Amino acid sequence: MITSNLNWTNLAKSKSLMAERNHDPKSIAIWACGIQMIYQSGRQNFQVLKGIDLQVRSGDIQLLMGPSGSGKTTLLSILAGLLTPTAGRVMLLDQNITQMSRQQLAQFRLRNIGFIFQGFNLFPALTAAENVEVALNIKGIRGRRARHEAEIRLDQVGLAAQKHLRPRDLSGGQKQRVAIARALAGNPKLIMADEPTAALDSTSGHAVIDVLRKLAKEDGATVLMVTHDPRIIDVADRILHLEDGQIQH
Ligand SMILES: Nc1ncnc2c1ncn2[C@@H]1O[C@H](COP(=O)(O)OP(=O)(O)O)[C@@H](O)[C@H]1O
Ligand SMILES: [Mg+2]
Repeated sequence: MITSNLNWTNLAKSKSLMAERNHDPKSIAIWACGIQMIYQSGRQNFQVLKGIDLQVRSGDIQLLMGPSGSGKTTLLSILAGLLTPTAGRVMLLDQNITQMSRQQLAQFRLRNIGFIFQGFNLFPALTAAENVEVALNIKGIRGRRARHEAEIRLDQVGLAAQKHLRPRDLSGGQKQRVAIARALAGNPKLIMADEPTAALDSTSGHAVIDVLRKLAKEDGATVLMVTHDPRIIDVADRILHLEDGQIQH
């Protein structure tokens, strides 16, 4: 297969050539090369990803689609540095995350990636605003600055009026929106989302799509998202289809 023969040096060369052509060395935010993933359960090996190459341009909204069980969540987790692939390399914002230590990777994720994964994981004892503030505190933003940004983020997802409510007083869609406000806090350059609107009512869904679109188009964030939501397909720049462990062209 041509793609798996493409080594990392060649990829880096072709990348710099491409950057020269575009006069923009930062035009690719996410690079992956030869990603393979084999899960082991008991004595059985199961290859979910069979050599994935992909690139996502800065400021793009790129979607990852494919049937259930095709490996979308696995691939997204690898690209986000949450899961180590069996083979292959990942480069995020011009940094090779495959070579990073656990600690470096944790720092990198904290600084650069906003995660919108399933499950809200909100602190039940904290208000919506405090849930966002805590995330900012972890990123080194404290006090009045954190309070101010938390308000802005909640306003962005349409929850300005609910900022003093605790998770038990919010609907499922509202909780998901708090989780999204929290993911966006601190302005991550990369946003990785796994079916962010799947469990949302239509108002929440629209609010979320609008925020993601603005982040990409106005703030230049790069959004990589697993979704089947036709409203998101409308605003996407590119769509990749994953099937049988490979990207279908
Ligand atoms: N931790 C794991 N151990 C073993 N198999 C797994 C694990 N995670 C996912 N799988 C299997 O890998 C395949 C792809 O899963 P997943 O990436 O969640 O697909 P998708 O998100 O497209 O539905 C599925 O068959 C799933 O059962
Ligand atoms: Mg999934």
